[in-house]
Amino acid sequence: MRTSGDVAAPVLAIDGPSGTGKGTIAARVAEYLGWHTLDSGALYRAIAFLAVENRIDPGDTDGLEELAKSSVVEFVVRSDGVNILLDDRDITDEVRSESGGKNASIYAKIPAVRKALLHRQQAMRTAPGLVADGRDMGTVVFPDAFLKVFLDASAAVRAQRRHKQLSGKGFDVKLRALEREIAERDEQDRNRAASPLVPAADAIVLDTSEKDIGQVFADVMQLVDKRLASRQISRT
Ligand code: C5P
Repeated sequence: MRTSGDVAAPVLAIDGPSGTGKGTIAARVAEYLGWHTLDSGALYRAIAFLAVENRIDPGDTDGLEELAKSSVVEFVVRSDGVNILLDDRDITDEVRSESGGKNASIYAKIPAVRKALLHRQQAMRTAPGLVADGRDMGTVVFPDAFLKVFLDASAAVRAQRRHKQLSGKGFDVKLRALEREIAERDEQDRNRAASPLVPAADAIVLDTSEKDIGQVFADVMQLVDKRLASRQISRT
């Protein structure tokens, strides 16, 4: 059954390029509020992983659409973070790697893939609320989000943060290579025809280059509280 989710449930959309801290912020805000999360990048990463594994070419739109519709991606919270299960197989490491991001960006350009994932993402909107992070949460997937935040940071800072994050998880990555890959992925995400990475017209853009995660969390929570109060939406 296709469900469109609970449209009455409030959505906080957090978009931005890689390395701005949006995943961490989304998880913290959701935990604080007791809301659900949608890590949309992980969905694109999982579909790309499956496509590569099954040798489905980016030009095979029917095959990709079928794959995106039929695969079962689950997010399971464990002590070491959120694990990604694809049809019951743990693919967290493969998917979270830099090459996983690169592949995701290639397949995410394809309108049939985006369309197949749209309803899935919207179905995750359930009470008491959803914090959704990605590239097009505020522009395409949840245009009626009560608050849209677009996190940005300089390319150098983003590469350093990704480096720290990936090294911390045991991935062997070189800063220079990461800088190149991030620049390529940005370029691809910003310039594609389907749902490009761009702040929604009504998004609040926060530059996080000079801020630590605690400061960004405080800034976002201030915006959330103000907006919820002005719209008379209760947190639970
Ligand atoms: O957010 P993350 O880095 O995990 O996303 C991986 C890739 O998936 C992005 O570079 C982008 O190409 C794609 N993506 C997207 N739309 C989203 C989330 C991610 O196109 N909402």
